Amino acid sequence: PRSVTRGADGAVAVAGLSVRDIAAEFGTPVYVLDEADLRSRCRDFRAAFPTEDVYYAGKAFLCRAVVRMIAEEGLHLDVCTGGELATALSAGMPPERIGFHGNNKSVAELGRALDAGVGRIIVDSFTEIDRLTALARERGVRPRVLVRVTVGVEAHTHEFIATAHEDQKFGFSLAGGAAANAAFKILDEGVLELRGLHSHIGSQIFDASGFEVSARRVLALQSQIRDARGVELPELDLGGGFGIAYTTQDDPATPQDLAKRLRKIVDSECAAENLAVPHLSIEPGRAIVGPSVFTLYEVGTVKDLDGIRTYVSVDGGMSDNIRTALYDASYSATLASRASDAQPLLARVVGKHCESGDIVVKDEFLPADVQPGDLVAVPGTGAYCRSMASNYNHVPRPPVIAVRDGQARLIVRRETEEDLLALDVG
Ligand code: LLP
Repeated sequence: PRSVTRGADGAVAVAGLSVRDIAAEFGTPVYVLDEADLRSRCRDFRAAFPTEDVYYAGKAFLCRAVVRMIAEEGLHLDVCTGGELATALSAGMPPERIGFHGNNKSVAELGRALDAGVGRIIVDSFTEIDRLTALARERGVRPRVLVRVTVGVEAHTHEFIATAHEDQKFGFSLAGGAAANAAFKILDEGVLELRGLHSHIGSQIFDASGFEVSARRVLALQSQIRDARGVELPELDLGGGFGIAYTTQDDPATPQDLAKRLRKIVDSECAAENLAVPHLSIEPGRAIVGPSVFTLYEVGTVKDLDGIRTYVSVDGGMSDNIRTALYDASYSATLASRASDAQPLLARVVGKHCESGDIVVKDEFLPADVQPGDLVAVPGTGAYCRSMASNYNHVPRPPVIAVRDGQARLIVRRETEEDLLALDVG
């Protein structure tokens, strides 16, 4: 986060608050959210996309406090399940600023979205179009929808988080003609209000050319729809997926750069296809919340395997950050509770779970005097860490605190053993 400094005692401080004080008050592990940092990222996106809509992708991390922060900063919200929708509504997110995603929304979820009056639903299958049409007829409403288009772009990212190549579960295929047929079906039936097309090519993407290819392809479909049905769709959503720096090797684009490139390609394609420029929206999740959070752990054991490496075990692990094990993701770690001028030592930061894949940071240089009781911070854990956390080995999930102007406030409390036991029946 942006407001991280080192205090006179050598300890890391966030917005003026020492990690030692944070650990003493809230325990470890704990996710520490730098609120000013999160808000400034929201503002950077708003400033770069002032006439567009920026939907924060709640799957990255969602709780009521964050819903309120992003709403106050003028963002919209993308939810993809009934649970995320419920969280958004309970925090007072205006329903017209909510977009509802998902490749298998249930009848109940769609009904709730309609009853709440969400601003748009991104339809993902013919089954869903039929479901939603029936529900809309029953209620006598005309929901606004976008058609999710699979544009056939091979995004350069991990296979599990790429979403626009042909062979996968999301969206309507562009090449196969399903996307055009979905749009025609909606227009011809006239029950749903087709507002536009949507594409999302994947996540943690650095090469903006993927977004350009995708914009070009959806706009070609836009013009095909105009030619066939005489309708110019007024909106276009280019999805999220903007990469962030997990380590110093990553070099992400700024929101300003992204905005410039996206606008340029949309403008030139629209000119070429003789289309009015649609109202644009994007859906960043990771780029908003990822860099604003670090996880603070306490070191429990240090095991030196002579000549191989040193294993530094912390009091969390794959239950609070599955991304290293699942995607081979890279993180860094820092000794946070004190300064040290000891020699750097090749370390692996591992968790407390019962498997050897339980790695938080694969390779990191930590001071050779790292010892039990030290605090270690792992930055960049705001996105897809708490939201993908589990109770593996019955480890209660850590709390999230928001720090602002030297004050910390609990926004998600620590899970307790009673919470875990509460689900057991008998
Ligand atoms: N819009 C749609 C339709 C999405 O499916 C996603 C992410 C986003 C926006 C936001 O993408 P972002 O800007 O956060 O990259 N668990 C994985 C990431 C899965 C992303 C799923 N969809 C990870 O930890 O890397």
